[in-house]
Amino acid sequence: MDSSEEIALRGLLGEISNELGSLASQWERAAWATPRHRFLPDRLWVGETLTLCDREKSPDAWFQAAYANEPAVTQINDGKDPGDGERWPSSSASAPNIVFRMLDMLDVEPGAKILEIGTGTGWNAGLLTRVAGPGTVTSIELDPGLATEAEERLRREGASVHVVIGDGAKGYPERAPYDRLEATCSVRRVPRPWLAQVKPGGVILTPWDSPWICYGLLRLTVDDAGNASGPFSPHSAFMVMPDQRTNLGIYRDVVREDQQPEESATTISPWDVAGQDFEAQFAIGIQLRDVWRTWQKAPVEGVSSRLWVATTDATSWAAVDWDGKSQGRFTVWQYGPRRLWNEVEAAYGWWKLHDSPGPERFGLTVTPEGETVWLDSPDQHVFATG
Ligand SMILES: C[S@@+](CC[C@H](N)C(=O)[O-])C[C@H]1O[C@@H](n2cnc3c(N)ncnc32)[C@H](O)[C@@H]1O
Repeated sequence: MDSSEEIALRGLLGEISNELGSLASQWERAAWATPRHRFLPDRLWVGETLTLCDREKSPDAWFQAAYANEPAVTQINDGKDPGDGERWPSSSASAPNIVFRMLDMLDVEPGAKILEIGTGTGWNAGLLTRVAGPGTVTSIELDPGLATEAEERLRREGASVHVVIGDGAKGYPERAPYDRLEATCSVRRVPRPWLAQVKPGGVILTPWDSPWICYGLLRLTVDDAGNASGPFSPHSAFMVMPDQRTNLGIYRDVVREDQQPEESATTISPWDVAGQDFEAQFAIGIQLRDVWRTWQKAPVEGVSSRLWVATTDATSWAAVDWDGKSQGRFTVWQYGPRRLWNEVEAAYGWWKLHDSPGPERFGLTVTPEGETVWLDSPDQHVFATG
């Protein structure tokens, strides 16, 4: 490592350590042995607009992005050219603070057998293998190009990881059972094959997503019967597995001109349920597992924003206009067999009634038959889903 790389990594580790309270020495050693910039491709997409940052043309900006405490987006739109259309990240080296938070929560000991879902750049797999030891880590990636590049980088850096191309939702039974399974893409349902491939007492750690909001980390412990249970914790967004995404367009898929919605009014502000309160949104998302939402800016003259809510099968929808106020009366339109705004209000009301619990008070029990959400303790079931 040259001196600028050393300075950048030391600064980043200091930031992470402050944010997490401390950073275990085994992970600090792993970070020095696995420099992040050596795992990043020459093309990154940076900023809110996901602008291309090419290492050859802008080496300083590229290096800065490599050592920022932020996700480094390494692929957009599943590798397809977005043209003038919307850009969205489809692979990234996750933000270093989240990477180390998850590694810390995973509780890895030397010799542990680990399955990582979502190889991406290979950086996290490299870190894992420095602590667990050569040959202990299997990492599975859906995108063949990304998997091949990551495998090459890992080999070049002397990190012995078994990289597999495939769908991580199926796990990787060939090398099971595992002591730890870490997903680095989020899920809306815990894939059932994971339960059978992790040893009793083993841990499954995965980012959580609902069509309402991608928020929360879930840490499950597997029991002797092959079920798993554990708490959520608060943390920010992760990209969702492709087959669990909701890609609805309001006018393309949901709303038709001949539909006649029912009009009413509400005193609950749409900002309260879909603004910046992640805890409220997490609680709504975990109750309404098939309800998606999006904001539309200035839908018609005189309205600053409109909240659209729809079922993921696009059969029912609701819209509420918001004029930037937190109190007042807001106009609501609802269409379809379900009265979705009423459902959102009920979910929000439930959350308020239970003292506005954050994700850390919720947990999930997963069995081959279904999932049960609990509050405060695994015997206090609050919602069940299939
Ligand atoms: C946030 S990135 C992973 C970051 C990675 N661990 C690293 O260190 O760079 C998420 C990755 O998950 C992959 N992915 C999404 N769904 C998947 C699936 N079902 N099976 C395997 N990989 C998947 C994506 O292609 C993407 O590369």
